[in-house]
Amino acid sequence: MCGIFGIVTTEEGPLGDLLTAAGRRLSYRGYDSVGCATIGADGVVDLRKDVGKVDEVATRHNFAAMRGRRGIVQLRWATFGHPSQANAQPHLDSDGDLVGAHNGNVVNNVELRQQFIAEGLTVRSANDGESCVHAVERYVDRGHDMVTAIRRAYADLEGDYAFVIAATREDCLYAIKKGSGLVVGLIDGATCISSDLPSILPLTRRIVRVQDGEIVTLWPDRIELRRVADGALVQREPEWVTESMDAAAKGGYTHFMLKEIHEQPQVARELLHLLDASADVAAMVERMRAARHLYLLGCGTSYHACILGAVYMARLAGRAAIPILAPQFLPQYGPAVGPEDVGVFVSQSGETKDVLDALALAQGKGMTVLGLVNVIGSTLMRESAVHLPLTCGYEISVPATKTFTNQVVAFLYLALRMGGHPTAPLAALPDLMDRTLAAIEPQVTALAPALVAQQDLYCLGYGLTYPIALEGALKLKEITYAHCEGMLSTEFKHGPLSAVRDDYPVLFVAGPEDVPRLVSGINETTCRGGRAIAIGQEDARLRANAHDLIVLPDADALFNPLLAVLPLQCLAYEISVARGFDPDFPRNLSKTLTVD
Ligand code: AGP
Repeated sequence: MCGIFGIVTTEEGPLGDLLTAAGRRLSYRGYDSVGCATIGADGVVDLRKDVGKVDEVATRHNFAAMRGRRGIVQLRWATFGHPSQANAQPHLDSDGDLVGAHNGNVVNNVELRQQFIAEGLTVRSANDGESCVHAVERYVDRGHDMVTAIRRAYADLEGDYAFVIAATREDCLYAIKKGSGLVVGLIDGATCISSDLPSILPLTRRIVRVQDGEIVTLWPDRIELRRVADGALVQREPEWVTESMDAAAKGGYTHFMLKEIHEQPQVARELLHLLDASADVAAMVERMRAARHLYLLGCGTSYHACILGAVYMARLAGRAAIPILAPQFLPQYGPAVGPEDVGVFVSQSGETKDVLDALALAQGKGMTVLGLVNVIGSTLMRESAVHLPLTCGYEISVPATKTFTNQVVAFLYLALRMGGHPTAPLAALPDLMDRTLAAIEPQVTALAPALVAQQDLYCLGYGLTYPIALEGALKLKEITYAHCEGMLSTEFKHGPLSAVRDDYPVLFVAGPEDVPRLVSGINETTCRGGRAIAIGQEDARLRANAHDLIVLPDADALFNPLLAVLPLQCLAYEISVARGFDPDFPRNLSKTLTVD
């Protein structure tokens, strides 16, 4: 996830501060590098970009001095191409006649770059944003006008993206939308375009929302919308935005956590696109296959993803993998570890000290270090022999949601590839997650009031849903402050069952393969007066035995955990808000724990 902003003004003037301010408001979307381009009335491009946060780079390269009639700023959250000045955006075409920047992922980037090089275009980086510019350049070189060239480029560029581009010899900006956000702002004497509202609202509240498959041309006093498919003009009335800046940054949701819960299908879609195109998957699978012992290491939510990853690897690749809490790795396995062993280190932030300490131990033993990491440029990314980005963009709320599901998606993908199975069926997963969210939210809203006052409860699962029970329990603890213990359902009778009393709530996460086993646990609870709340697919046995059932769409047992976690995230969120807490920033906690 990156951020783009562009503006077209009537008169040439200072644009640097305006572009920097817009970039600052987009920085929650990505901040490992930033760049600005301005184009004067004479068509001269001033392009300044570098690695670092907005204010650092703006100061280092004196953005304030930039002038022009048109300007573009881009915030990068690296996916293709490590953070570097060359990979920072915006990018020029071969001769400097075009300048542009994108937001999103062009999944056939590697293939396109090879084509551009073969066609004699000057390719300067590994970044897919540059491919957007060259994809237009190749058709301009064949004599097409910009709108036509952009429409043809759209067909060549695969993935989810939006990009803005300018021809230096013209006086307008162009932008196109295919899966990533794009909205136009109508200002007196100027028009602007952005990935989302927060960078526009301080300039204007009069906007036009661009739809997928549309191309927009911006002049200072007007815009033109066209359909990519046939070039036909699209008439769309501007709208007046009343939401606050804070609400806009949250995408209209009350909290970042709810926004990030709802981003899960899209970021899963983007990750799957990236994994399909990534050469690093094969490199990672090769190392995992060759391992004598394969360890999956993480903390908190990331550890729960490791447990599920191990289940996937055993089932799909016949490979035993050892999930382990990172700090326990040394005392439990340290003496047994050697250079033939491989560790997959899982961390959203890539900076969790408990994980980095285990990584240092692994390196000291000559182990191969692999990484699943969201923050590109983080220590875990840099220390990994091979890493896969989680492509979630910035996860702002402390409780991990979208990074967890994408960790699980990555493990499922790797396990399928390790076992030689096709990964194509995973393409159905994002829509299934979308449908699940729509199906469970009203059910959770109906159930939550019964649990708002609960100070302690259990969350049980088995097999594929055991790690989901642990994750659901962590979410409930983390943001409602209630004590909720996650546990293997069969363990409940070995002692914790004594906690059950009248109306005592116990959540049962039932995968489609394990309903009979969960029903046993449900009955052990209900026969002692407890309230058994099942989460699972429609099943007469769950209906007959549980007090409540949150129904999930039917799905493959391997997909079910990614669906079952969604109502648990939503339930924790609703209880937290009902209790008057801030789910984004729970007491005592921080997003990244760089301490022991
Ligand atoms: C999860 O909701 C918590 N924020 C916490 O357990 C987190 O998963 C843990 O601190 C690990 O963080 P990491 O993924 O950045 O390493």
